[in-house]
Amino acid sequence: MKGCLITFEGGEGCGKTTQARRLAARLEREGLPFLLQREPGGTILGETLREIVLRGDYPMAPWAEALLMAAARAQMVEEVLRPALSRGVWVVSDRFADSSTAYQGGGLGLGEERIQELNLWVTGGLRPDLTFFLDLPPEEGRHGDGKERPLDRIERRPVDFHRRVYDSYVRLAQREPERVVRIDARKPADVIEEEVWDVVKKLLPGGRRV
Ligand code: TMP
Repeated sequence: MKGCLITFEGGEGCGKTTQARRLAARLEREGLPFLLQREPGGTILGETLREIVLRGDYPMAPWAEALLMAAARAQMVEEVLRPALSRGVWVVSDRFADSSTAYQGGGLGLGEERIQELNLWVTGGLRPDLTFFLDLPPEEGRHGDGKERPLDRIERRPVDFHRRVYDSYVRLAQREPERVVRIDARKPADVIEEEVWDVVKKLLPGGRRV
């Protein structure tokens, strides 16, 4: 028995957290064992690294940032993902390895291929079964809008950075159309939820087609 790993990706304010939660709620209604996770985070080490990377007010070299993200992911894979998936638990993750490819590989210019290689080491080759890219151009992004907190270190970066992140996600969706489903994030949340469910329900076990 093996669970499915479903990830949500996209730029700032694209609504992926809402959709990850809504998908988890649907899986719960289906009676499927599931876990909702986020990156960076999801473990004690991961949440600590999240604070360091997103909240720290000190210089951080691009490769330092990439490797801290990678460290959080390594812990998440070993502590949470592999054990859950092997027990048949479905995992919904609010961001995963593609975020590093887009943000550090594309946005910071470290190179998508090099970051993909790093991801491969860190995940031991674990790849999502399905990824939803919530497509929202950064110029329309709601950078931190609606969040009752100051913008974090990455959200504060100039729009050029977020444009490179976005372009990187677009390339990813083109490169891996069998895994990455691109959804127009400007649609109402209810409509997106249905689109997501239409894809996920095809993966449900035992031919359950609700
Ligand atoms: P979010 O959970 O609100 O999306 O915040 C996470 C931030 O961390 C977001 O700005 C994207 C960034 N991030 C990376 O730069 N690289 C990564 O590998 C991950 C997982 C997140």
